Amino acid sequence: MSVQREHWGSRLGFILASAGSAVGLGNVWKFPYMAGTNGGGAFLVIYLGCVLFFGLALVMAELAIGRTTQSNPVGAFRKLAGRHWSVVGGLGVATAFIILSFYIVVAGWTLAYVVFMATDTFGGLGVEQNTTIFKDFVASPIQPLVYAAVFTVLMIGVVMGGVSSGIERASKWLMPLLFVLLIVLAVRSVTLPGAMEGVSFYLLPDWSQVTGATWGGAVSQAFFSLSLGMGAMLTYGSYMSEEQNLPRDASIVVGLDTLVALLAGLVILPAVFSAGLEPSAGPGLTFMTLPAVFAQMPAGAIFGIAFFVLLAIAALTSAVSLLEVVVSYFVDEKGFSRAGASIGASLVIFMIGVPVSLSQGLWSDITIGGKNFLDLADFMTSSVMMPIGGLFIALFAGWFMGPRAVEALKSHPAQSMPLAGLWLFILRFIAPLGIAWILLQGLLG
Ligand code: TRP
Repeated sequence: MSVQREHWGSRLGFILASAGSAVGLGNVWKFPYMAGTNGGGAFLVIYLGCVLFFGLALVMAELAIGRTTQSNPVGAFRKLAGRHWSVVGGLGVATAFIILSFYIVVAGWTLAYVVFMATDTFGGLGVEQNTTIFKDFVASPIQPLVYAAVFTVLMIGVVMGGVSSGIERASKWLMPLLFVLLIVLAVRSVTLPGAMEGVSFYLLPDWSQVTGATWGGAVSQAFFSLSLGMGAMLTYGSYMSEEQNLPRDASIVVGLDTLVALLAGLVILPAVFSAGLEPSAGPGLTFMTLPAVFAQMPAGAIFGIAFFVLLAIAALTSAVSLLEVVVSYFVDEKGFSRAGASIGASLVIFMIGVPVSLSQGLWSDITIGGKNFLDLADFMTSSVMMPIGGLFIALFAGWFMGPRAVEALKSHPAQSMPLAGLWLFILRFIAPLGIAWILLQGLLG
């Protein structure tokens, strides 16, 4: 293996690409409805706790494993520990397929909303009609799949372009723009009539709302939002150079991701209350609410178009990181060409995406354990496979690698690492016990 592995063009390139992976539909589509379904403020606090107490530590662990092995997830575990552990990497590759199967569907909804905003579909209609438009759209059999297909083609295009040309360039300018737009929207949203009720729902914890589901939801949301537990961060770490200050850059990425989620909540939930919607409306919440916010802004159509374009791009940079896990595995381990792996994997993903999309309409009656295909794909990955992956990654870095993990964290020339002991303690005890306990809660009911 004498081929030099491709690396990020610059430190900023890495941060933007990793933040691009983390910031996506998880922040803007999923976080607000998770907070809305799981009790608002209490969910917010528990979520922040999850990010702080093991999210950051796990991001660092994945990046360190990736950088020190310079490998895809399967190869990384095999290099460090042999065949048995490489199963953790394999689980990650499988997880990526399932996440992408619903990610492309929801990303397709985002693309459709660009068109809807541009063609004035919502006009001055109220939230009730907007909700109907959303439900009718996602329930139609063909249209959403066409948008999902368009998104899939865009995703293949970026991944085939390779790491530094495709992914980095896409992330560099557009993510800051999305951020600015979210701030503008938050200002509009909290000043809508009746919005304050939403602000207090979101920011003032009501602890009586906390159940096992709140904890489970917060953990799975943290995994999903931080792109954890399935090797995406590990893969991005494998393109990192030894000089990079890993803990610092990891903190920046985690901080940005959290900030965007917090802001998205502050856009959606006040608007939900202002419009008299139920915060627990579920996966359609963001799409049902936002058109009403744009309708009450000067030049709302322009803001609306810009917003959904940027959200689609945020989704693209996330999807790319998921596909990259799959592609780097098939290229490194199975000798596929980059193009062949990208296209082949995407075809499979799209085929799994078909029942996911149909589950919003034609096939909405088909449920497994009370969940339609979209909910099931989300649940299996965010609430089961990724936490299990994260559990093993924590155990692996904490116990199997131990002091070697700390070495992998350090940049060269040797960096001092004052909190290394705390990091190992989290990986050895807090993360595995916490995740295992919450997993069991979620699975037992
Ligand atoms: N974190 C992204 C989001 O919030 C989704 C994502 C990208 C992801 N890569 C991942 C989720 C890897 C889990 C694992 O939208």
